[in-house]
Amino acid sequence: MTKQPHHQKQEEKERDRISRLLIYLNDALAMENASVERLQSRTKETDIEELKIALQKHLQETRQQQERLEEIITNLGGKPTEEKAGLPILTSPKSIAEDMENKATTAEWQLKYAEQDAIIENAEVVGYDMLIQWAIKVNVENVIPVLMQNLKEEEDMRMWLRANTPRLFAESWPRIEEEADDAAMRNTGKENRRK
Ligand SMILES: [Fe+2]
Repeated sequence: MTKQPHHQKQEEKERDRISRLLIYLNDALAMENASVERLQSRTKETDIEELKIALQKHLQETRQQQERLEEIITNLGGKPTEEKAGLPILTSPKSIAEDMENKATTAEWQLKYAEQDAIIENAEVVGYDMLIQWAIKVNVENVIPVLMQNLKEEEDMRMWLRANTPRLFAESWPRIEEEADDAAMRNTGKENRRK
């Protein structure tokens, strides 16, 4: 076996590192692809005004995040994925999910979805934290600033959701009570008719 010259080995090693980094860059892009889709439906669906505005702003940012990732992936010789990641959503055990189906008011579901928004933003922060470590090791130009920018936007959204949770809840609370009262009245009505 002929021994490879040192520089050739180095080049191969570099290519291998970049191909590894590309997997994770595309994984982040797949997450943003899924995020765009979810944010589009969330902005339409939510009836909490300031949440709607925050989600719309973040939808614009997420589209830019996609573009930034697509650009660095292409520059590194990769092919930007159009596929979508599965977003992290907690699923309740069946018995609790059934209780919610039966009992939860529209306003409660809105809060549940806002909770999912926050879980997803947190997951994105965690993803970029790890990806930045890869980018530091592989050390290719322009990748770290892009990832830092995406991370900052995720962090801002995560912090907005966290800071505004008490307000979102406080605004939903009268609506929860009102809906619950209405439901109780309808049930009493049914019972009275049965008598
Ligand atoms: Fe995000």
